[in-house]
Amino acid sequence: MNETIFIRRSIRKFLNTPIEREVIERIISAGMHAPSAMNTQPWEFLVLTRPETRNIIAEMSPYAKMAANAPVVILTLANLDLEKDGGWYAQGLAACSQNILLQIVEEGLGGVWLGIYPVHSRMKKLQEAFSLPETLLPFSAIPFGHSERINKPANRFTPSKIHYDQYHQ
Ligand SMILES: Cc1cc2nc3c(=O)[nH]c(=O)nc-3n(C[C@H](O)[C@H](O)[C@H](O)COP(=O)(O)O)c2cc1C
Repeated sequence: MNETIFIRRSIRKFLNTPIEREVIERIISAGMHAPSAMNTQPWEFLVLTRPETRNIIAEMSPYAKMAANAPVVILTLANLDLEKDGGWYAQGLAACSQNILLQIVEEGLGGVWLGIYPVHSRMKKLQEAFSLPETLLPFSAIPFGHSERINKPANRFTPSKIHYDQYHQ
C-alpha cells in the first residue's frame, strides 16, 4: 500500500515558512518522472515565489485565491513543440501534476491542484501575464507550503464502480 496516495488531500491554507530550492526541485523532479506518450516529456515549469507572480495565479479564477498565501506556486506548462501528435500532452501533464502533489506530501508539505487547462480564458490570461509563446500552454497551478492542517484521509473506495469483464449497470 502506498501511504502517500491515500493520505494526500488538497491543502489550501499555508504558513509563511519559505521552502528551500532543493525541496522545490525534488518536487519538480517527481513531476519529470511521470509517464508521457512516446516519452515526449512535454512539460516545463514556472516556479512562482514573488507575491506579484503568485497574485497573477490568485486572480486567475474565483477558486485560486490561496495562491496569494502560498510560499511557492508551480505553474506547469505544456510545451506543444515537444508534442508529436494527437493531443496526448494533456495526459502527460496530468500525470506530472499528480506526481508533484504526491511528492509535496512526501516532503511533509501540503498543496492543491488548480485547474487551468482546458479553460481557454485562463490559459490565454496566463500566457499574456507571463509573456509565454503560443506553444507553451499553462496546464495547472500548484500552490504548496507548510500547513498547520493535518491531512484527513478520505475513504473513497467504491466497489460498485469496479466491473470485471463486463459492465453491469
Ligand atoms: C483538474 C483539477 C482542477 C482543480 N481545480 C481546483 C481549483 O481551481 N481550486 C481548488 O481549490 N481546488 C481545485 N482542485 C482540487 C479538487 O477540488 C480536489 O482534488 C477534490 O475536491 C478532492 O479533494 P482532495 O484533493 O482533498 O482529495 C482541482 C483538482 C483537479 C484534479
